[in-house]
Amino acid sequence: MSAIDYFEKIPNNVDLANDRTLQRALEHWQPRFLEWWREMGPNDFASADVYLRTAVGVDAQGWAHYGTVKMPDYRWGIFLADPIADRTIGFGDSFGQAVWQQVPGEFRSQFRRLIVTQGDTEPASVEQQHRLGHTCPSLYDLRNLFQINVEEGRHLWAMVYILHAYFGRDGREEAEELLARHSGDVDKPRILGTFNEPIEDWLSFFCFCYFTDRDGKFQLKSLAESSFDPLARTCRFMLTEEAHHMFVGETGLGRIVRRTLEVMKEIGSDDPEAIRRQGAVDLPLLQRYLNFWFSSSLDLFGSEVSSNAATTFANGIKGRPDETTQYQDHVCADSTFEIEVPDGKGGVTKDTSPMRNAMNEVLRDAYIRDCEIGLKRWNMQIKRAGYNFELKLPSNRFRRAIGAWANIPTDLEGHPVSREEHDRRMPGWLPSASDRDYVKSLMQRVVEPGKMAAWIAPPERGINNLSLDYEYVRLD
Ligand SMILES: [Fe+2]
Ligand SMILES: [Fe+2]
Repeated sequence: MSAIDYFEKIPNNVDLANDRTLQRALEHWQPRFLEWWREMGPNDFASADVYLRTAVGVDAQGWAHYGTVKMPDYRWGIFLADPIADRTIGFGDSFGQAVWQQVPGEFRSQFRRLIVTQGDTEPASVEQQHRLGHTCPSLYDLRNLFQINVEEGRHLWAMVYILHAYFGRDGREEAEELLARHSGDVDKPRILGTFNEPIEDWLSFFCFCYFTDRDGKFQLKSLAESSFDPLARTCRFMLTEEAHHMFVGETGLGRIVRRTLEVMKEIGSDDPEAIRRQGAVDLPLLQRYLNFWFSSSLDLFGSEVSSNAATTFANGIKGRPDETTQYQDHVCADSTFEIEVPDGKGGVTKDTSPMRNAMNEVLRDAYIRDCEIGLKRWNMQIKRAGYNFELKLPSNRFRRAIGAWANIPTDLEGHPVSREEHDRRMPGWLPSASDRDYVKSLMQRVVEPGKMAAWIAPPERGINNLSLDYEYVRLD
């Protein structure tokens, strides 16, 4: 089951050759995808030879196969994790019944909306990173960027397959639309806010991989619990690829911290101006970037209390990450969840919501805990270097645009403050224009094998046991 057919025009492990109609429909979509990639994918690198990982099977041996590929020749395809025998529904009103191989008619539009929203983020991030290759800090990083880009392209394929195979004409139309909306487009933007934010420097890129891709991880984890088995299986396989994206974000930011600490030691100062004169990223600047991307990514989980979240949980459409191992009660019919909401008088009060309605918040909480892991590691580095600076995640109430805290001015700790105070202190909380200019000035392309830009330390090891000075991307 896990063998992938690479002789087909569209590599797949779903026996596409035996469904002519579906195969034709997808083969019709394929050239449009490739056209989109040429136009919106990595700018100017079509002829570069890139050391990439391509899946040749979905099991542990097959999915990480490495070789040198030109990106337009990457074999994008349809790979589902192997089915789990006798899998039953893991949550909601139908808990314990057999999972579905087709979409129940009554849940069709809810499923479609979720799949389209997920699918939309995949090409969006490729578009956001369109020009990043030009300013890579090393060939190693350039390769990682391209690996992520081709895999996000494949994740688009993963969602388009589900749309084509299970949603008929509606699904085919949605698949076209996924190539018609574009990140940051005034007329046809991507669906979710964060995916319209430009990513023009590598500090933003690493923050995006750390915070925004991690939202993707949690969405995929909860869709991997879905009662609609083909969706669950496609998301399970996407998660194996997604792990690398988290890795790039976490190690990228960790390497920036390491380099900054080296510079601080060399010059014997933690003065931001002095650090900038050495071409490194001062920690307060890094903190402001973290504040920006973390708060933006929090909105992706939706409102704290949501009737939509309650229905998708009750109907077995979208579960919680690690539903089986992390929770005792999989039905949540009578339990409640406590949330903090504004009291309308400039303060905070507690509100109790039925658990099912609070599923977005449950997911966001799990996400925040996962985000904290990297910060602990970086803070340890800082402490070991002898500095008492601490990187912190802002409160989940800070700078929210969606949910109970939308447009309520708070400080980084989440204390409500006046609009005047909020606006006055904002330059200390988010990257200022001069911060962005400084970061932009650091973005000079380094493409000599093994060399790193001055603002980032080398990684601990190369890709797939290769040395750091391996030529991961051969530019012509
Ligand atoms: Fe993805
Ligand atoms: Fe990703």
